[in-house]
Amino acid sequence: MDRLKGRVAIITGSGQGIGRGIAHRFAKEGARIVVSDWKVHRGERVCAELHEMGAEAISIPADISSREDIEGLVEGAVEAFDGVDILVNNAQTFTPNVPFEEKTDEMWTVSLLTGPLATFWSMRAVHPVMKARGGGRIINFASLNGELGQRLTVDYNASKEAIRTITKTAAREWGHDGILVNAIAPGAASPVYQAWAKRQPEMAAEQERKKPIQRAGDPELDIGGVALFLASDDSRYLTGHTLFVDGGAWLGPSRERVQDDPEQWRRPEHFARIDWNRRDD
Ligand SMILES: NC(=O)c1ccc[n+]([C@@H]2O[C@H](COP(=O)([O-])OP(=O)(O)OC[C@H]3O[C@@H](n4cnc5c(N)ncnc54)[C@H](O)[C@@H]3O)[C@@H](O)[C@H]2O)c1
Repeated sequence: MDRLKGRVAIITGSGQGIGRGIAHRFAKEGARIVVSDWKVHRGERVCAELHEMGAEAISIPADISSREDIEGLVEGAVEAFDGVDILVNNAQTFTPNVPFEEKTDEMWTVSLLTGPLATFWSMRAVHPVMKARGGGRIINFASLNGELGQRLTVDYNASKEAIRTITKTAAREWGHDGILVNAIAPGAASPVYQAWAKRQPEMAAEQERKKPIQRAGDPELDIGGVALFLASDDSRYLTGHTLFVDGGAWLGPSRERVQDDPEQWRRPEHFARIDWNRRDD
């Protein structure tokens, strides 16, 4: 409790999903929250939930593909709460999943505007505010899709990997200002994930089964907890990292053919039975 007492946090895309989970978690730790979403009703709904919990919160709608909106969001937060301590760049607009050769310039534009450019704009806008306060925390959002070069999402992949190097560059340049910058590559059952899992139940079940922790993540308990760590004093010596908070999915498929079923891969006949110390081979 109170690990973020009085600190001001802007969370983009906090009208649902992971952003909402982080807003709830931060609010329980005493943070003052600026909820932001381009869907006004979503932002207001989450803001009302936070008020019900007794938290201080305001909703400032912003479309992160607009630099003016982002700058207005930061200005609004400073006006309301006299500063910003934590920025969570969570929102991203998704484009249709289609093969590489079917991706259009319009899809690329959406991914690049709402990915690296939005992240850059909001970071640039909060920098003087955080510097004047003696420091701050920035949490950006990456994806395992980018790390792995996942099929059907080339524009999204490129935008998420760009965000990782923006994270590293800012960590290097702003460490002496006390501003620590890290990224989370999450895996969580947000509404967008749930909609996909409903359409592709077998694929979703297989995806969960393949992870070391065989379940979907919870936006508040699993992702919000790590975001809290990155926003709190416990991570004061950590910057420039991407934390893959995805139940171990980032480890990728195991090389044993029977990887997915513990009953199978634990059976002795599947172990590599090579005694490297034998001298009589
Ligand atoms: N859910 C996962 O498993 C997963 C995996 C990898 C990465 N991510 C990343 O995590 C972040 C959150 O994802 P989520 O699953 O909670 O998504 P979500 O769609 O459930 O929630 C995203 C929120 O952002 C808002 N938003 C979208 N475009 C916006 C814009 N232009 N301006 C302002 N708000 C906008 C939406 O209205 C929505 O409320 C994203 O950056 C996403 O790429 C999620």
